[in-house]
Amino acid sequence: MHGLTRENAASRPVTCTAGSDKSLLEARDLRIGFARNAYSDELGLAVDGVDFSLERGKTLCLVGESGCGKSVTALSLLRLLPVPPARMLGGSVFFDGLDLAVLPEKELHRIRGGRIGMIFQDPMTSLNPVLRVGEQMGEPLCLHRGMGAGQAFKAAADMLERVGIADGRLRARDFPHQMSGGMRQRVMIGMAMLPNPELLIADEPTTALDVTVQKQILELMRGLLENSGSALLLITHNLGIVEQMADEVAIMYAGRIVEQGSTGAILSAPAHPYTLGLLRSRPKNAERKQRLATIPGTVPSLWERPAGCAFHPRCPKAREKCRRETPPLVPAGPTLCRCWRG
Ligand SMILES: Nc1ncnc2c1ncn2[C@@H]1O[C@H](COP(=O)(O)OP(=O)(O)OP(=O)(O)O)[C@@H](O)[C@H]1O
Ligand SMILES: [Mg+2]
Repeated sequence: MHGLTRENAASRPVTCTAGSDKSLLEARDLRIGFARNAYSDELGLAVDGVDFSLERGKTLCLVGESGCGKSVTALSLLRLLPVPPARMLGGSVFFDGLDLAVLPEKELHRIRGGRIGMIFQDPMTSLNPVLRVGEQMGEPLCLHRGMGAGQAFKAAADMLERVGIADGRLRARDFPHQMSGGMRQRVMIGMAMLPNPELLIADEPTTALDVTVQKQILELMRGLLENSGSALLLITHNLGIVEQMADEVAIMYAGRIVEQGSTGAILSAPAHPYTLGLLRSRPKNAERKQRLATIPGTVPSLWERPAGCAFHPRCPKAREKCRRETPPLVPAGPTLCRCWRG
């Protein structure tokens, strides 16, 4: 694949000594655009100045409605977006001091699937249809951990059982099309966790799974964090999962982080009207038989981003300044909030 590399790469350093010593992952001012079509230079910003950091042993949840830029953010960290139409217009991604945005492809290849595991949102397009699941799950172990094929296949079969697929030895011989959607999702999860990555990026990993399997998978992920001190970047729209898993939460809207803070602060003292809207639309908050609260309107497309605060057309508290000027992300009580009213 032709990787996504930061466009102004030549003038930037490849390693980082600045920033927190504790951060395993640090994304700074990420900006990712998509070309409108093959014939146009017009770019829509799917990610517009995103910053976050993540320490070893911690979980950061990225939350927001469909289309707000969560997957694009996650994919850009490992330069997995298709070029074209994607363009990395700026920013850095420091992983253990290395700037992944400009790292030579060969070195990045050594990190992907080994030190950093990724669970993609769409498992079917991410699995190789002509390889048995055991073989492809074991591949990172051969590639990054120097294991023999037989031993890796056995480890893959064991992992299948750990993610709740019975008869792991037998099912490891299946091709992806012989498995259900939920099973394929679990294959992806197992494959990403097998080499004990230092960082796991999981994009809606349990959305297709029923609640009992979901619980099992989340516990498995938590085990990885506790035993190996790994870090987890978890993308989810499920606030119940956020509550269970996250240390820190970043709320995204229209390509920007609009609020960020500890899980306790975000859930109990949110400052941004969008975060409040998300929390109010949780099923938990609705009385039985009562209609769920919703946020009116939808996330604007890349080509219809409103001026000022992108949330203003949907915001009950919007005033004139919100329509004209983009608010900065600044402290507002216990969280960081991007709102003129904060
Ligand atoms: N390959 C692409 N080409 C053009 N636009 C894209 C591409 N991938 C994503 N986008 C656009 O970027 C924006 C962010 O998409 P993204 O997939 O990050 O959303 P998301 O927050 O992950 O949503 P969901 O919750 O539905 O997964 C959307 O407007 C989407 O249409
Ligand atoms: Mg997504």
